[in-house]
Amino acid sequence: MTNLRRDLEDLHDHARERLDAASSADEVDALRQDLLGRSGKLTGLLRQLGSVPAEDRPSLGQAANDVRSAIESAIGSRLVDLRGADLDARLVEEAIDMSAPGRPVRVGHLHPVLTLMRDLRELFHAYGFEVIEGPEVETEEYNFELLNIPPDHPSRDLWDTLYVAEPGSVEAGEPRPAADGTILRTHTSPVQIRAMRALEPPIRVIMPGRCFRYEAVDASHGFEFFQVEGLVVDRDTTMADLKGLLEEVARALYGRDVRTRFRPGYYPFTEPSVAFDIGCLVCGGEGCPACKRSGWMTILGAGMVHPEVLRAGGYDPDEFQGYAFGMGPDRMTMLRHGIGDIRLFFGADLRFATQFPEGR
Ligand code: DAH
Repeated sequence: MTNLRRDLEDLHDHARERLDAASSADEVDALRQDLLGRSGKLTGLLRQLGSVPAEDRPSLGQAANDVRSAIESAIGSRLVDLRGADLDARLVEEAIDMSAPGRPVRVGHLHPVLTLMRDLRELFHAYGFEVIEGPEVETEEYNFELLNIPPDHPSRDLWDTLYVAEPGSVEAGEPRPAADGTILRTHTSPVQIRAMRALEPPIRVIMPGRCFRYEAVDASHGFEFFQVEGLVVDRDTTMADLKGLLEEVARALYGRDVRTRFRPGYYPFTEPSVAFDIGCLVCGGEGCPACKRSGWMTILGAGMVHPEVLRAGGYDPDEFQGYAFGMGPDRMTMLRHGIGDIRLFFGADLRFATQFPEGR
């Protein structure tokens, strides 16, 4: 009986000594196992409790519990000391220089073509234009017929069209255009009809969007590109309004000294029609692949809205006139930055795209 009590006291002393000697948290953990674990020394002593006289058991049991909690709290405070020492060592070892400048966070930005399109939106907004969008998958009716381009008209060759296939015809090995005339729009001009039908005059809208053509790709042509269409319909609009507006836009984008010229052009949906050129800013007018060595780059087609198109939009041409233009923001971006090849825009090469961080 007295043996057990002494053994408990000895265990307590033994634990204190070994704890003091322990030099790491791992060592303390091992010690805890050895003293208090399932097959540890304290458990061993408790097993002897069954063989002591019944009247001594309660006080011995109490003594054993006291020793257990004394050892546990000694372990706890030893661990706190050791971890504190570990922490001090780590703080020294892993010290960081809080005064060092931070690494800049890399934030993405817009593609240069989108930046230009946003600039156009701002510019035209100042002239009272609103923005509307039309579908990229169009019908031949909107893309051609309603724009005064009849089915077999030779001018359709101007727009090499990507047709949506008739359902099932591809699987059957005989692809043919969809019977309902579904195509990918070749220009944003069909949105003119949608705008005229949806809005009340006076109409002043720009219509940005993606267009598609079955076209050989070169330095200034992609098979996929953007346009920003413009349309004004009112009772008293003239070619002079159109010219003044476009020259102002060119100056705003390229500076007051930009060289511009209007050339006669042909489009079935305008009469008269013009092409609007900017003195090539890639080569300064000397001639380069981007301007096909002409020194000029055409950035848009324009003209007075053809009476047939006004009628298709629901207006009486004797009462209303209008002007329209279709801008090429890809080319306009090439001019803005002196980029010599339109294919770079679709190349998805970050070394190219990240050179234009101003677009937010
Ligand atoms: N849709 C024409 C094209 O893609 C561009 C164009 C020319 C649009 C004259 C117009 C316009 O609105 O009046 O080539």
